Amino acid sequence: MTADRKKFYIETYGCQMNKYDSEIVAGILGKEGYTQVFRPEEADILLVNTCSVREHAETRALGRADNLGVFKHKTPGVRIGVLGCIVQNRGEKILEDHSAVDFAVAPDSYRQLPKILNNHREASGDDFSVRAFLDESDSGETYDDVYPARVKGLSAWIAVMRGCDNFCAYCIVPHVRGRERSRPAAHVVEEVRKLADEGVVEVTLLGQNVNSYDDGTHDFPDLLEKVAEQNGIGRVRFATSHPKDLSEKLVRTVADHEKICSHIHLPVQSGSTRILRVMNRAYTREAYLERVDLIRKHLPNVGLTTDIIVGFPGETQSDFEQTKSLLREVEFDGAFIFKYSPRPHTSAAGLKETLTEGEKIARLQELNAVQKTITQKRNQMHIGRTAQILVEGPSKKSLKDAMGRLENNKIVVLPDTKLQPGKFVTVKITDSKGITLFGELVDFKFQ
Ligand code: 5AD
Ligand code: SF4
Repeated sequence: MTADRKKFYIETYGCQMNKYDSEIVAGILGKEGYTQVFRPEEADILLVNTCSVREHAETRALGRADNLGVFKHKTPGVRIGVLGCIVQNRGEKILEDHSAVDFAVAPDSYRQLPKILNNHREASGDDFSVRAFLDESDSGETYDDVYPARVKGLSAWIAVMRGCDNFCAYCIVPHVRGRERSRPAAHVVEEVRKLADEGVVEVTLLGQNVNSYDDGTHDFPDLLEKVAEQNGIGRVRFATSHPKDLSEKLVRTVADHEKICSHIHLPVQSGSTRILRVMNRAYTREAYLERVDLIRKHLPNVGLTTDIIVGFPGETQSDFEQTKSLLREVEFDGAFIFKYSPRPHTSAAGLKETLTEGEKIARLQELNAVQKTITQKRNQMHIGRTAQILVEGPSKKSLKDAMGRLENNKIVVLPDTKLQPGKFVTVKITDSKGITLFGELVDFKFQ
């Protein structure tokens, strides 16, 4: 442990927004003279940024916080903090139930971290009277003026809006992350400029419901356009889009700008209008399919991905069959399929579960098998195509090979090239195995 006790380690669970929030936390602490370390044994402060979206995610993250307790035994004075959605969800009970945890800070209260850490540093030995719980939810916090401390790389995430107003019946997010609020477009653009100057070539605009972005003057397509205009930025991605807010203007904006990647993550959740209604998703199966038609009309090579929940309360065999048929009809490039997990505070928590765990698992496996075949078929359709990739680095399987991504987010492996990460090159797709495409170099395109 360092004399000034200013080294922190942070471990992140959950979605991209949470990963971004860890960068915000690192930015806040970095400004106060704290240093980030990447091994828990080197740290004085151990932070676990948690996720609440499914119960399993919560159990894993809290289990990890408990396990990190060993470092307190090894080195007195080490402090453990739990951050993120769980804090909002479980409240002060976290401190009661997890004796190793010294402080718990909810997503809108990270600015208070230096103060909490100061109190701990000033307290002698293991004085637990300074254990702290902080939750300033719905304070309108957007961390608009905080520059996140990112690990240097080609790509960066930027949260452009936070929170969610949709209250889908199963979802804890609006309860733990508060109401929607958007950062001013000018500030987002300023951050993008700074990133481009630091060598970032790809930015992903993040929001729980990113396409409902509205700063009072700009809607989401306006923002995308402004970001894409910045020199040095070669690619702009965004996630996650809600089908009800997916406008023709958005699709056209993606189509009209080479730099805006033709990849849309559009969670459908269920193929049954009846279940969608109970889920409070605000669209029918037909309306969703119309959105898909609109997207494919303007973006023929789009990468279209989705999220699905199986085993929502009351989901009959017929509802499930409709989800399966929707998968076949749409032919997504990829789907993240989850078992329903009842969450506190949500309206679905009051609904009686009608499927056993075994039935949920069976439905999950069946859909995964259906989707696997579709993903392979969709990938094969790219064989013979010539397209551009952004080189990211060596391939996972062989350091000699390079890997990069197509605009639609599919991974392409190139044999034995000496390509520098960050380069845009043109490749011909020659093969497809599993979820990976293989290609050969056709041309360099330098920025
Ligand atoms: N149970 C299972 N999956 C859920 N998701 C959100 N809430 C739940 C829940 N209670 C899934 C949705 C969402 C994704 C991020 O997580 O599919 O799109
Ligand atoms: Fe959750 Fe629905 Fe909001 Fe997505 S749109 S974060 S699923 S409430």
